[in-house]
Amino acid sequence: MKISKHLLCSLGLLLAAGSPQAAEPMNDVIAKDFAAATRQYSVLLDKIAGKPGFPRTLEKGEVKLVSTRDWTSGFFPGSLWYLAEATGDARWRTQAIRYTEATASAKFDKSTHDVGFILNSGYGNGLRLGAGGAAYRDALLAGATTLATRFNPKVGSIQSWNLRPNQNWQFPVIVDNMMNLELLMWASRASGDPYYREVAIAHADTTLRNHYRPDGSSWHVVDYDPLDGKVRARVTHQGNADGSAWARGQAWGLYGFTMMYRETRKPEYLQQAKAIAAFMMQHPRLPSDKVPYWDFDDPAIPNAPRDSSAAAIMSSALLELRGFVDPALAQRYGAFAEQQLRSLSSPAYLAGAGENGGFLLKHATGHKPAGSEVDVPLNYGDYYFLEALLRYKGLARPM
Ligand code: GLY
Repeated sequence: MKISKHLLCSLGLLLAAGSPQAAEPMNDVIAKDFAAATRQYSVLLDKIAGKPGFPRTLEKGEVKLVSTRDWTSGFFPGSLWYLAEATGDARWRTQAIRYTEATASAKFDKSTHDVGFILNSGYGNGLRLGAGGAAYRDALLAGATTLATRFNPKVGSIQSWNLRPNQNWQFPVIVDNMMNLELLMWASRASGDPYYREVAIAHADTTLRNHYRPDGSSWHVVDYDPLDGKVRARVTHQGNADGSAWARGQAWGLYGFTMMYRETRKPEYLQQAKAIAAFMMQHPRLPSDKVPYWDFDDPAIPNAPRDSSAAAIMSSALLELRGFVDPALAQRYGAFAEQQLRSLSSPAYLAGAGENGGFLLKHATGHKPAGSEVDVPLNYGDYYFLEALLRYKGLARPM
């Protein structure tokens, strides 16, 4: 058959317009994202110069700074480490060290389950990138010891929130807490003491047993009787309703069980991670740009706020999970994460120069039922976005 020049030309145009080859190469997208990130974080550093604390979000147009005790304090130093890793620029490393070391007191803070988030993001990345030596190792080990004090062997879990006067909870455990287990797994490897690992595995097993629904989604909070470990209640405090699927909670679980599979190779963790991924990826109310609404079950959808932080956490998790599954599934996870990263890299989500208070991602949602941090930047959205970009390039490899 003779193919005319005209037909070939039309085919070429079609391919150029509609095929994946027409998309900007990911390496270029990522390079632009890091250029934007260094520009934005320079703005942010200037804004907070001389002020104590860590930037968390924008509130009434001003950067909100939080103390070391806030669960998000480690993400700003963590993002500075990712900028140092991406650029190799000593300026970012100097700032990363400065802000990491400002979180030191968290290692003795028994009042929070989020010591893992706080220390792993700053000290953990710093140690991974060759900074701090014994001092960083000691800070992380002290933090792991502190975190393990919140473990109750009767429940088989670390307690998340402390008890508050007007809540009828006795031992609340939130799905988010899966993320803190990475510090414990590292601590056993670093110290040779199996206890931290035993605590982490018990917590993950208990979460697997009690937080998950048959469709792969999770409740946010499970409350236990601390004396016998029986489940007292299952609720979704930060979501639309107790039975709903709060998007970031699903993303924390996906990341947490993927990480615990990496650390233990327990097949049930991989199975759960795959179930969560399927729930999120195939959800009929996931928008076509793959950035979830803040809760999959908000009746206001499609007029509900998005949560770009959930998309960032999910893409980073999928980029790890693809290393543990068969090639066909790995391809799907990789393509999905890439789609999310392309969306987050577009002007719809990525801040323009100097906008967004210096943060990188727009349109995240913190705690909508409390009317707090709706459609704002959040420092953890930026952190997991930068991590996912590095993971896409084969960097930010776990310790
Ligand atoms: N870990 C708290 C949150 O995700 O909002």
